Amino acid sequence: MKTKITITVNGVIYNKTVEDTLNLLNFLREDLGLIGTKNGCGKGHCGTCTVIVNGEAKRSCIVRMNKLDGAIVETIEGISSQEGLNYIQEGFVQEGAIQCGFCTPGMIMATKALLDKNDDPSEEAIKEALKNNVCRCTGYTTIIKAVKKAAYLKKQQAECVKESILSNQYIGQSVIRKDALSKVKGERVFADDYKEKDMLYGKMVFSQYAHAKIISIDTKEAEESEGVVKIAMAKDIPGQNAFGLFEAEQPVIAENEVKYLGEVVAVVYAKTNEQAEHAARLVKVEYEVLKPILSPIEAFEEDAPLVHEDRENNIVHYVNVRKGEVDEGFKNADVVIEGYYYTPAIEHAYLEPEACLAKPEEDTITIWTGNQGSKAYQEMIATSLDLPMEKIRVIYTPCGGGFGGKEEPTVQIHAALGTYLTQKPVKMVLTREESIRMSIKRHPMHVWMKHGATKDGKLVAMESRVIADAGAYMSQTKPVIFRSAVTATGPYVIPNVKADSYGLYTHNNPSGAFRGFGSTQASFGAEIQMDKIAEKLNMDPVELRRKNAFKEGELTSTGQLLKDGVGYLETLEAAQNALNKMKEDYQGVTRPTHKKLGFGLASSYKNVGIGTGKLDQAGAIIEIEESGRITVKMGATDMGQGVDTIVAQIAATALNVPYDIIDVIACDTLICPDGGMTTASRQTYVTGNAVKKAANLLKEKLSQYIEVNEKNQETLAFVYQEASKKGEKLSVETDYRPPKTYPHDGNANPVPGKPIEAYDIHYSYCFATAAVALEVDTRTGEVKVLKVSAAQDVGKAIHPQNIKGQIEGAVVMGMGFALSEEFLQDDTKIITDNLNQLRIPKITDIPEIAPIIVEVKQNEGPYGAKGMGEVGLNPMAPAISNAIFDAVGIRLQILPMKKEKVLSALKG
Ligand code: MTE
Ligand code: MOS
Repeated sequence: MKTKITITVNGVIYNKTVEDTLNLLNFLREDLGLIGTKNGCGKGHCGTCTVIVNGEAKRSCIVRMNKLDGAIVETIEGISSQEGLNYIQEGFVQEGAIQCGFCTPGMIMATKALLDKNDDPSEEAIKEALKNNVCRCTGYTTIIKAVKKAAYLKKQQAECVKESILSNQYIGQSVIRKDALSKVKGERVFADDYKEKDMLYGKMVFSQYAHAKIISIDTKEAEESEGVVKIAMAKDIPGQNAFGLFEAEQPVIAENEVKYLGEVVAVVYAKTNEQAEHAARLVKVEYEVLKPILSPIEAFEEDAPLVHEDRENNIVHYVNVRKGEVDEGFKNADVVIEGYYYTPAIEHAYLEPEACLAKPEEDTITIWTGNQGSKAYQEMIATSLDLPMEKIRVIYTPCGGGFGGKEEPTVQIHAALGTYLTQKPVKMVLTREESIRMSIKRHPMHVWMKHGATKDGKLVAMESRVIADAGAYMSQTKPVIFRSAVTATGPYVIPNVKADSYGLYTHNNPSGAFRGFGSTQASFGAEIQMDKIAEKLNMDPVELRRKNAFKEGELTSTGQLLKDGVGYLETLEAAQNALNKMKEDYQGVTRPTHKKLGFGLASSYKNVGIGTGKLDQAGAIIEIEESGRITVKMGATDMGQGVDTIVAQIAATALNVPYDIIDVIACDTLICPDGGMTTASRQTYVTGNAVKKAANLLKEKLSQYIEVNEKNQETLAFVYQEASKKGEKLSVETDYRPPKTYPHDGNANPVPGKPIEAYDIHYSYCFATAAVALEVDTRTGEVKVLKVSAAQDVGKAIHPQNIKGQIEGAVVMGMGFALSEEFLQDDTKIITDNLNQLRIPKITDIPEIAPIIVEVKQNEGPYGAKGMGEVGLNPMAPAISNAIFDAVGIRLQILPMKKEKVLSALKG
């Protein structure tokens, strides 16, 4: 059916005959090319597609066009102009309410709908207005501030008050992020926003079972379906039908067997997305259904069937840490505490679903996609297509959140394969359901811990055993379980340690990198253990932590001597002060007797950088352009954490030039140097250092032409001319290698002849402590977090506003992990297959958050800075569990701590 309508969009009238199935989002994006409105889920669960319809904020993906006759629609493009920013955009920019930018246009439109009606909204009203808009990056705090600022700017008709920076020294200054303006205007071009003439759309056919043999695949009907150009099966892959960051193990397209529900069995390429979707449903796969192993405990059993028949058992990897003599250590303990802890699979739920455009260009294939490391993608695509590396070019597009989930390809190899097979551009975008079905997850972990301490609170021994669910393929299980063993002690000196971690294959989604990377799960157990020990010893839990804290000159569980940059105690102290203040503030307030107040605190530490003797360097290129502007080319990807801005600040400071004349190009494999994966919170440190080094080299070059120290665009344009006359290019390329690290060999004990440096598995660590105040409703079991004070050692805050945003985002992600989120599946279906089911925190769930920046200089880091993007998440779940104990005397050790669980624990 079709309907004739008249609709006004951003003041332009359109007379259209529309299909009854067409929604407003697709009309805006596909028919009108208004790509500022984003598609994050297609189900009305995320709000990225919010526009204003007849004065009301509407999620355009759930508005049918045939209902819009006479409607007036406003989109982000309607409030964006060449000249400047609208007051809302200005508010978002000033408050730094932008990270990955994918939710930003929707947030801004929801804000506009609010402010059009209410000039002075209360915090309640703001939360109510934005309750359908999910953000996975910011933790919402800056967004609330931005809406308030926007309301203020609107009323005052105020101009933007830019902080004036008097010299070109930008370290520690919250300059306007490089990506801010294009993101608030909806002009940032994400992978799904690309379009090509004659482009095909690829759709995957997924397995129906967690475990089955493929008997046959019948594509006849699908091939005959309208618009279908090609259907790719395993046999169509010219090169290696396997990919993976550690070992190429996961089939690009399964051939004989499926090992999890997200396994791809065929890919349909058709002229429209609908045609591809339709044909994908017509592919008939006959399976012999087999019994899946869905638990790593089961997979560990002696007689468990093998997930990978070519392996001896289901163990992906085993890591051990041995320090001192653990049995002796326990003999000296006055108290021994044991506990079992469980953390579930978690979906990254970045707001931008996986997307990619592949295009034939002469004899190469170019791929546009958001990712965490273009080079790794390039290698995997080249290997599967059996092409030399230089025939594949991967261009990084803004990444709408990664959080570890975009280190490995999903659609990219399949899109490139489609281009290879058809010689046409191919677009592939996962729907939210497909994204959840296919992508990697945070490792579920079973954690057993045993600690021994003396009467006076000295930790003397610790034993941990972790069994992690690696899922069907290895992904990054090796380094993830490594971290879960190494960080199991927490930031405490323990002389006798035995930590074992196992990763087990199952028929679940492959588990991989996820913010915290194994340290998160271990921290959950370790920090509840700390509180239990303190309780048993009748000691203040902060005091217990202080007594055993990591300091310069102490040894970690792997025998590494801690040198500079150990800011743990400072975070503990800051969080303790905040905790005391919270107690003062909240304990005085009377509340109903069924609402119990509780306070809790937890700490964590994790590595910055890859370490363990692996390649960890990053490159940088800096060039002066004819215009006098400066281009920085690097291999780090900005998925919202702000590295584009950080490197621009570093380059401007080192070169003594204005920040505004710096442009950053990231992760284009043809023109940018490799920076390794954007992982392990490493890029501020490694790429930051590479850029600083390159800037210093360039400065030296410039000194032949110009004497003044401070330079501007004009002088640089002049220098460019002078250099051209001499035939010199004002360009430098360099590499930075972080301090040498060594692999961990299991034994932390001194070995004759082995120097102490050989125990340096990492060159930098970061630290965090969070204090939480909450309320437990003993009638419903509901836990309401009232306030979080989160202290983090960042070395040096290059961009304080950004750092705070990272802390707030990590805190809220940690709250989701603690209280509500889990990814569930069984042998035939994903149970939590949409954003609603996944229970990602919303704006209405967040407490007051006070980020506290601790700066303990890391000597080798750029200007003393180190990475910080992950560790802030770790203390949240244990701090909340500890606070629940404080409130109602029950220990919750299995995540998520949903109200049903709390209630049943309360009932005993
Ligand atoms: N912040 C936003 N907004 N989006 C992200 O995807 N990823 C986190 C963290 N902060 C992420 C983020 C993860 S998992 C890592 S490893 C670091 O950013 C990487 O950034 P860095 O290397 O620049 O510190
Ligand atoms: Mo982050 S999990 O190290 O990409």
